[in-house]
Amino acid sequence: MTITPSETPSRAENWVKDSNTSQHGWIDQDRGAVSRRYDRVARIIPLFDWLFFMPPGFRRKAAERLQLGPGSSVLEIGCGTGLNLPHLRAAVGPIGTVYGVDISTGMLAKARALCAHNDWSNVNLLQQDAAEFTVPKPLDGVMFGLSYNTIPHHLAVLHHAWTLLRPGGRLVVMDAKLPPGLGGKMILPFSLWLMKRTMLGNPLIKPWEDVERLAGVIKMEQFMFGSWYICTAVKPANPQAS
Ligand SMILES: C[S@@+](CC[C@H](N)C(=O)[O-])C[C@H]1O[C@@H](n2cnc3c(N)ncnc32)[C@H](O)[C@@H]1O
Repeated sequence: MTITPSETPSRAENWVKDSNTSQHGWIDQDRGAVSRRYDRVARIIPLFDWLFFMPPGFRRKAAERLQLGPGSSVLEIGCGTGLNLPHLRAAVGPIGTVYGVDISTGMLAKARALCAHNDWSNVNLLQQDAAEFTVPKPLDGVMFGLSYNTIPHHLAVLHHAWTLLRPGGRLVVMDAKLPPGLGGKMILPFSLWLMKRTMLGNPLIKPWEDVERLAGVIKMEQFMFGSWYICTAVKPANPQAS
């Protein structure tokens, strides 16, 4: 399948029917179902960082890779309960803008409570499919925080996100992955089992390959024996190069 950045989000319906997604073994490609599943797991989501041995400081590091500064604008795709928002908000400060988009009401309710508790008036949370999200001005940064592999039409969302970035803006995908070698092969059946029950993420998808095809150059950092990673890409200043 050839993917071009000009494929628009309105075609997202077609992406989910494409053989590219079915070959990843999704059991449920319907976005309503994804949203309902996350509504159900919203309460226990913070446990997963701990259960899956997220490296200490991982979320902060991922936010740092966006190289935001006071006044910057950033979008988190699939912001969930808002566990990355403190780092993004700290990076852009009170005069910057943070957008968080998510399709799950239950996850967003928790993120909204976090913003209200901290009085963050410049964090804008929107309930919608990330493929349909628009911004008034190009963004300085976009993050997929543990979300890329949970999105059946991830390629459409990735290409859309790229169009939202300003030239020179940064895209970060941070997530867990199967470790290389025998360890990964042994964990795969459990990861697939978990995906089918929780929509925690499809272990067969390799986001860094998609990002590299799009951006040309990526920086891939791996942690905890290759079971966590931060993938960073910079949108070329010359749009012809993207
Ligand atoms: C594993 S959670 C990650 C939440 C949060 N970013 C974190 O790091 O804890 C994945 C999130 O992606 C959201 N999501 C899945 N598909 C989406 C879509 N098409 N558009 C927006 N959000 C989506 C889910 O609702 C869920 O909240």
